[in-house]
Amino acid sequence: MIRVSGLARRYGEVQALGGIDFSVARGEVVGFLGPNGAGKTTTLRILLGLVAPSAGRAFIDEHPVDDPRRDVRALIGYLPETSPIPGEVSVRRHLAFVARIQGLPRGRRRAAVDAALGRCGLEPVADRPVGQLSKGYRQRVGIAQAIVHEPPVLILDEPTSGLDPNQRVEIRALIRALSPDRTIIFSSHVLAEVEAVATRVIILHRGQVVADAPAAGLLAGQGLRVRVPDAQLDAALARVRAIEGVTGAHRAGEALHVDAAPAVAPAIARALEGLDLLELSPIRGDLEATFRRLTGAA
Ligand SMILES: Nc1ncnc2c1ncn2[C@@H]1O[C@H](COP(=O)(O)OP(=O)(O)OP(=O)(O)O)[C@@H](O)[C@H]1O
Ligand SMILES: [Mg+2]
Repeated sequence: MIRVSGLARRYGEVQALGGIDFSVARGEVVGFLGPNGAGKTTTLRILLGLVAPSAGRAFIDEHPVDDPRRDVRALIGYLPETSPIPGEVSVRRHLAFVARIQGLPRGRRRAAVDAALGRCGLEPVADRPVGQLSKGYRQRVGIAQAIVHEPPVLILDEPTSGLDPNQRVEIRALIRALSPDRTIIFSSHVLAEVEAVATRVIILHRGQVVADAPAAGLLAGQGLRVRVPDAQLDAALARVRAIEGVTGAHRAGEALHVDAAPAVAPAIARALEGLDLLELSPIRGDLEATFRRLTGAA
C-alpha cells in the first residue's frame, strides 16, 4: 500500500534522508520511530507529495505520489505534526469545510461528518469552537479531519505528542479502532505507544532505516532474570553458566541476567537446587533499550 525506494532528501548541506527503502502492506499499522531530526516528518511529507525527494521514489497503492494524472493525496488522510485548525469555528463546521475541500459531494458531506465525529468520540463537543477544546480533543479533531473522506491510508505525524497520559491512552485506542480497515503509519518518540498499537516498527536514525521488524520480534529474546540472596550470587552464576542452552550470564545489580530462551527456565531452577531461588522470570522486551542500541545513544 505504501512503498518507498532509494528515497533521499537533502536540505542544503543537511542530508535529511540518505536513501531509504521500506514498504507497508495493506492493513498494517506501522510505528515510525526515531530521535529528533531522524527524517520522519520529511519521509511522511514526501509520501503526501508536500516535499519533493532529491532521489528515489514513493508510491501509494502503486501510484507514484507525484503522478500528475491521479490525485494520490485523495487516498491519504494526514495528521500533520502541528495542525493549524482555526479556533473560532465549531468542530462540526470545521469538518464540513474539510469534507468540502476534500471534494465530497454535497449530499454525502453531512453523513461523512457525523461518521467522523462518531468514530473519534467528538459528539459531546461537536458544536463547540475548536479553540476551546483540550489538546486531546483538538488532536481528535485533527484525526477526524484526516478520516472524513474515508481514505484507505492514514499518515499521523506524532499523534500523541503534547498529550497527558490519559489522553495518550485514548488516542492510542482511537488509532487501534481505526486500524482494521486502514493502512496506518504513525511517527512517535514514545516507545510504549508503538508497542501498544503497531504491528510493525520502522526505526529511522540520521536518515537511514536501522530497524524494520514486527513489533513483537524486536522485543523477543531478552533473556531471563534470576535472583538469589547476595551471598549466593557467585555460586549461582557459576552453576547457570554450565547449563546447556545458556549462552551467557552476568550480574545485573542484585540479580543475574541470563542469556537463554524462556524454555531453559526449568533447567535453571534445577541447577540452582539447594540455593534460595527468589526470582526466575523472563526479561520483558525493552524497546527503549533496543532503540538506544540501534540509534547509538546507549
Ligand atoms: N524545511 C527544511 N529546511 C532545512 N532543513 C530541514 C527542513 N525540514 C527538515 N530539515 C532537516 O532535516 C532533518 C530531518 O528533519 P525531520 O523534520 O524530517 O525529522 P523528524 O524525524 O521528523 O524529527 P522530529 O522528531 O524532531 O519531528 C533535520 O536535520 C532537519 O533539521
Ligand atoms: Mg517530525
